[in-house]
Amino acid sequence: MTRGRGRPRPILERTLASALSGRWHGGANPRDISAFGLLLAIFFFAQAVRVWAGNADSDVALPKFLGAQSCSASSCHGGAGNNRNQYTVWSAHDFHHLRPYATLETARSERLAEVLRIGNPAQNQRCTVCHGPFHTVRSGQLSQAAKISEGVSCENCHGPAENWLRGHTRPDWSHEDRVHAGLRDLRNLYVRANTCVACHQNVDSDLQQAGHPELIFELDGQAVSQPRHWSRSADKPGPQIWLVAQAVAL
Ligand code: HEC
Ligand code: HEC
Ligand code: HEC
Repeated sequence: MTRGRGRPRPILERTLASALSGRWHGGANPRDISAFGLLLAIFFFAQAVRVWAGNADSDVALPKFLGAQSCSASSCHGGAGNNRNQYTVWSAHDFHHLRPYATLETARSERLAEVLRIGNPAQNQRCTVCHGPFHTVRSGQLSQAAKISEGVSCENCHGPAENWLRGHTRPDWSHEDRVHAGLRDLRNLYVRANTCVACHQNVDSDLQQAGHPELIFELDGQAVSQPRHWSRSADKPGPQIWLVAQAVAL
């Protein structure tokens, strides 16, 4: 696992730097070199835009989701003691486990799906994007162990674990190192609120007209109702959470 320090500079930056400093190959006309560099830069920029637009080829290596079982060993987060029991709390008490996906198999969801004419709600991304988010992850980015029926799983809040799973227990890793490797910085209230808002803020108006409950987001209230699997010191006082949440929800 590399820690990202001393990472090579982004290719665009290097191309531009070489072009501008005229160090491409010795002897060539610096103007041609700049023009060549510029063309290259445009090419790489176009590639980057393709990636952002989300229609890149599937070989672009996005980190994989590994599934909750990769956190569940009793020496990791599946134990009983403080700070080892996150999996235990989530699987036994959190309504993000099992319930969101099970909801899609209820008669109420069936009725919703009928009105919307979307077939089986448990197999339709209009529903699974929030109720079974592993269903909407591209197949190459989902490990076989990750199950859609997990509902809203660890990595749906904490970020796909492939690049940080091994490293995040290293004693010499700081919180910043983990975040750098892709662990989502949920200690940051703004990041945390945005994570919840993605599923708790808005539901398309046709879903609501079809009978989906209206979604109202209040991080303060919802963060308190979510069975806590973190130490209190990781939390900020209520009013501060509330203010951040309202700002994010605007
Ligand atoms: C990937 C989508 C997703 C994310 C991210 C998510 N939730 Fe949820 N959450 C759901 C779904 C879906 C339900 C409804 C479960 C059901 O009843 O079927 C739910 C239910 C809840 C409930 C119980 C019902 C309610 O609204 O009172 C609380 C509280 C809650 N979530 C809090 C949070 C908090 C706090 C965060 C951010 C730290 C969060 N959720 C992030 C999808 C998500
Ligand atoms: C934007 C995210 C999102 C999408 C998309 C979404 N849901 Fe939900 N759904 C939620 C959340 C969050 C709750 C919990 C609301 C609460 O309890 O306040 C919920 C609650 C429900 C409930 C009520 C559960 C209960 O027991 O009270 C049903 C039924 C439901 N959703 C079905 C569906 C179906 C069917 C679809 C697709 C047509 C769908 N949802 C799409 C986020 C979403
Ligand atoms: C609905 C979103 C959500 C889900 C699902 C979720 N977490 Fe968390 N988790 C949070 C939030 C919010 C915090 C508090 C912020 C922090 O300390 O990073 C947190 C904190 C933590 C912490 C830090 C504990 C501490 O005291 O510092 C660990 C470890 C953790 N979660 C592991 C897990 C594991 C393992 C799972 C799955 C079994 C899981 N989480 C599922 C939102 C979630």
